[in-house]
Amino acid sequence: MSSGIFITFEGGEGSGKTTLIRLIKEHLESKNYQVVSTREPGGSKIAEAIRNIILDVNNPDMDYKTEALLYASSRRQHLVDVVIPALEKGCVVLCDRYIDSSLAYQGYARGLGIDAVYKINQYATEGILPKLTFFIDVLPNVGLSRIKDNNRDQNRLDKEKIKFHEAVYKGYKLVSKKFKKRIHVINGAREITEVYNDIIKIILEKI
Ligand code: TMP
Repeated sequence: MSSGIFITFEGGEGSGKTTLIRLIKEHLESKNYQVVSTREPGGSKIAEAIRNIILDVNNPDMDYKTEALLYASSRRQHLVDVVIPALEKGCVVLCDRYIDSSLAYQGYARGLGIDAVYKINQYATEGILPKLTFFIDVLPNVGLSRIKDNNRDQNRLDKEKIKFHEAVYKGYKLVSKKFKKRIHVINGAREITEVYNDIIKIILEKI
């Protein structure tokens, strides 16, 4: 389909994905790669509008299946608007979250089932999977305390109780095992430069 390379970053709240993506983008650009960095849910006009509905703290009654379908819709739109065109141009696409977020959060933590959520995402993505995925492994209590220290605005999912974030973490562990060829588990509880060095090494081996 394309000559670019699609790389995704996964992890709980406060795992450091945003900073890592910025550092990796800078490094790859310095080596003359064309890089697009983006995020889910959102990343394009319609996908951002869907994001606002999903994460709105005024929507506490959202049904879990509705939530899963909205994430899949946002994913579909973002793929069509941003990811596929960039891959067709030969870019490296660095995406903050993708299908594995839905498997861990909706499939496992919300209890909808990893396989059921995988199925709706197959439809949404037509089977497009990243070439590489990094799960930044940080314990939920550590990640959550980082975002509190950052004073970042809390969205509807951030506000879930610690039990939910622990279930997300367990979900990621299961998903990482299930897709162990694609997903690299990276210890994120270290200095950011050490985490970054591990990731960039793996990326440079693949591209
Ligand atoms: P973030 O941009 O701060 O990571 O917020 C996105 C939130 O949405 C985060 O709590 C993870 C959650 N999420 C899901 O539950 N399922 C998904 O498929 C995606 C992409 C994100």
